[in-house]
Amino acid sequence: IDFPSLYFPESHIVTVAHRGASGYAPESTLSSYRLGIRMNADYIEIDVQETKDGELVAMHDKTVNRTTNGSGNIKDLTLEEVKSLDAGTWFNRKHPIYAREEYTREKVPTLREIFETFGTDTRYMLEIKDPEDYSDLEEKTWALVEEFGLKDYIAIQSFSKDSLVKIRSWDKNVPLFQLLWYNRPAHISEQQLADISGYANGIGVNFLRINENYVLKVKHAGLLIYPYTVNYQVNMENAAKWGVDGVHTDFPDRFKEVIEEL
Ligand code: G3P
Ligand code: CA
Repeated sequence: IDFPSLYFPESHIVTVAHRGASGYAPESTLSSYRLGIRMNADYIEIDVQETKDGELVAMHDKTVNRTTNGSGNIKDLTLEEVKSLDAGTWFNRKHPIYAREEYTREKVPTLREIFETFGTDTRYMLEIKDPEDYSDLEEKTWALVEEFGLKDYIAIQSFSKDSLVKIRSWDKNVPLFQLLWYNRPAHISEQQLADISGYANGIGVNFLRINENYVLKVKHAGLLIYPYTVNYQVNMENAAKWGVDGVHTDFPDRFKEVIEEL
């Protein structure tokens, strides 16, 4: 398969640090991303959302409630309000074994800060999150990627087909992943695979609902498959055995170890 902008590691399986090395450090913070890079993840995964005043920030949930000491929707808070929040203490309380004093000084990073900090030291798996909540999330994200000259260092994923189709219309080469989520054993039709192949290079799918046949079917259609979020060793081993192309994990070091032993 020939995707000029997609990175293929020597191990043949891509490691995506999901929200950074978020098993070990507060998710979606510079600490978590730095650790993901230090653990040699091929990509750091970033959920992109927008503040009330239109700044792009890294945050998974629609609200700041779970991962900061504040409350409210990201889209209803200004960047200044978001920046006043503590984005690390919650982690220390929840995971005392990985707690570090420096995490209490973590803030919610903007996408600009992430690009400024890491530049071309890593690759970025950007997720366009909840685009229906914002008018121009794709445009703003793409503009920032262009400003930093990082087109060859990114891949973009979304649950929104519309978002991906829009981005594909701007760039033929950027690797795109359609995210899928199943609440029962996964099934994908030939029709769906053909449809996705029309605008994306691969899919991201919740690992626990798929099996080897699903993986083979997706690959047979010429699409890449990067399951998420694979955190336990036995699941990592199975994912690799089934031939997935990449894995999203909160524990990139663990996955690196598993694929080294293959
Ligand atoms: O990386 C894929 C995954 O991020 C999609 O699910 O909920 O963690 O954003 P979620
Ligand atoms: Ca995500």
